[in-house]
Amino acid sequence: MKILITGSNGMLGTDLKEVLKNEEIIDTDSNSLNITNKDFTINFIKKHNPDIVINSAAYTDVDGCETNSDLAFEVNGEGPKNLAIACKELDIPLVHISTDYVFSGENDNPWNENDETSPISVYGKSKLEGEIAIEKTLDKFFIIRTAWLYGLNGSSFPRNMLELSKNNKEISVVDDQIGTPTFTHDLAIAISKLIKTDFYGIYHITNSGYCSWYDFSKLIFKLANIDVDVKPVSTDEFPRPAPRPKYSVLANNNWKKNNFEPLRDYKEAISEFLKLI
Ligand SMILES: NC(=O)c1ccc[n+]([C@@H]2O[C@H](COP(=O)([O-])OP(=O)(O)OC[C@H]3O[C@@H](n4cnc5c(N)ncnc54)[C@H](OP(=O)(O)O)[C@@H]3O)[C@@H](O)[C@H]2O)c1
Repeated sequence: MKILITGSNGMLGTDLKEVLKNEEIIDTDSNSLNITNKDFTINFIKKHNPDIVINSAAYTDVDGCETNSDLAFEVNGEGPKNLAIACKELDIPLVHISTDYVFSGENDNPWNENDETSPISVYGKSKLEGEIAIEKTLDKFFIIRTAWLYGLNGSSFPRNMLELSKNNKEISVVDDQIGTPTFTHDLAIAISKLIKTDFYGIYHITNSGYCSWYDFSKLIFKLANIDVDVKPVSTDEFPRPAPRPKYSVLANNNWKKNNFEPLRDYKEAISEFLKLI
């Protein structure tokens, strides 16, 4: 299978390249393929003539999106639209990675794939615009919403916690945001399985289980044998430029309906991650 990957130097992109290494990969980054450049993107993809495109490129700085909203909508909205037009012209599927941030967070049950979207941040709104553009343009798409990613390549919550613990004996972490930490390696394996099918549609794919950021940090320090006093704080006590969804657990319904095995528990995944870094 000839697979074109965008944003392939990102956290997920790096794991996709590794997991799909036995396929023919056209790996691109923001220099070789800037997805906001419509004509260039369409011509580039047509020239390489892949069997499928995986879009792991995005403007992922959630707080930065609040002040750079034009860039957010360009990369996260227009970019996926350009890719969708190219895939339509070649009649090939597009895999697009989206986010729990398309939901409001006002829920106490896991979000289903067809629940109403209602993003509360610029990042979430721009990612939703990308989803909508793909749905309008293409029939053959996999839109994969995931959450709370961490991976071997790039900065993430677990790495930030380990860094902070070097100079702090006490760390405050929010305990009123609930979600599912997801290892990009596990997500990349799931994507490698999904692209072998024609079960197109919207998917929620995360590791199993859920926790608060506070619970997650306690687990990280316990597994890493680091003695730090973790203090639970509320989101209100920890203001950030972009609002975060309070509850963003994603029910992996379509994944399970198509007889794929649920991804392993987040506790198992973080344990492996900590052994690997
Ligand atoms: N991180 C999370 O917690 C999380 C949670 C849910 C969903 N997601 C989604 O998962 C996907 C992967 O996220 P990630 O954490 O792996 O992101 P990441 O590490 O920030 O990687 C994103 C990549 O996109 C590239 N990029 C940015 N603008 C581009 C452009 N105009 N054209 C082409 N490439 C561009 C960046 O390349 P340069 O560095 O060269 O600019 C970067 O390598 C994204 O769609 C994200 O929205 C992430």
